[in-house]
Amino acid sequence: MAMRFAAIAIVSVLATAGTFVLVGPLRGYAETSGAGALKAVSDFDTIVDTRARSKAIFEEASRVLTHPRCINCHPATRSPTQGEDKHPHVPLVIASNSSLGPLGLACSTCHGPENRPIVGSRMKSIPGNAHWSLAPASMAWQGLKVSEICQQVKDTSRNGNRSHADLITHMGEDHLVGWAWHPGEGRSAPPGSQETFAALVAAWVKTGAECPD
Ligand code: HEC
Ligand code: HEC
Repeated sequence: MAMRFAAIAIVSVLATAGTFVLVGPLRGYAETSGAGALKAVSDFDTIVDTRARSKAIFEEASRVLTHPRCINCHPATRSPTQGEDKHPHVPLVIASNSSLGPLGLACSTCHGPENRPIVGSRMKSIPGNAHWSLAPASMAWQGLKVSEICQQVKDTSRNGNRSHADLITHMGEDHLVGWAWHPGEGRSAPPGSQETFAALVAAWVKTGAECPD
């Protein structure tokens, strides 16, 4: 009971802090990465060369991979980032020993099994998912070029030993990937839908999983 009360107290303090922190991020809210919807696989039919087509398809899929909703959880350091501008997580959380958060301040202290709306604050909601945790260090994407993210994603020594087929399943069905398109009030979603995104990943694999230069 006392623990639960403490957690709620932390969150309400945060909600107040968020009023201040969110002023910047919300300004960029309407903007997603680049203009327009996510292209469909068929939009790449005109690229005759298979390798070139594969690279172009990954470039398009990378508009999702590098979107704040994804990359905030795939940071360069062991600290997640927040918002549309990828600012350091408030409060600073360092998940050095466990992706579930430091002892005594697990991610789940504040991130519940579902997004939680907040009334009366600039922070419209606290994101949540039953599987909420930080991507492992080997899966850090922030600061990488698209070509480097591509290499990371298909490198079984860094991607959780996933085959190409596993990658398609992960992008199409994973809970945290899916969360990105249902991120709670006050957060933008990546372009397109999870289905379109997973279809792009499947087409990328089918064309040889080539990485952009
Ligand atoms: C003390 C409470 C607290 C803890 C502990 C905490 N978070 Fe958060 N986190 C928040 C709040 C509140 C927000 C929403 C902030 C906002 O929208 O401005 C947030 C937002 C985020 C976001 C940004 C989502 C987005 O795309 O905008 C990520 C990523 C995140 N947290 C990851 C984590 C991870 C991973 C852990 C554990 C290693 C963790 N958090 C631990 C309170 C916490
Ligand atoms: C709340 C944090 C969080 C969010 C949001 C998130 N991820 Fe992840 N991601 C993780 C964690 C944790 C793992 C490791 C899971 C595992 O290995 O089973 C991971 C692993 C992955 C992998 C495995 C392969 C690799 O090399 O990285 C891919 C691909 C991936 N995420 C893509 C995405 C995409 C695309 C999005 C957005 C649409 C996204 N993630 C959003 C936390 C997150």
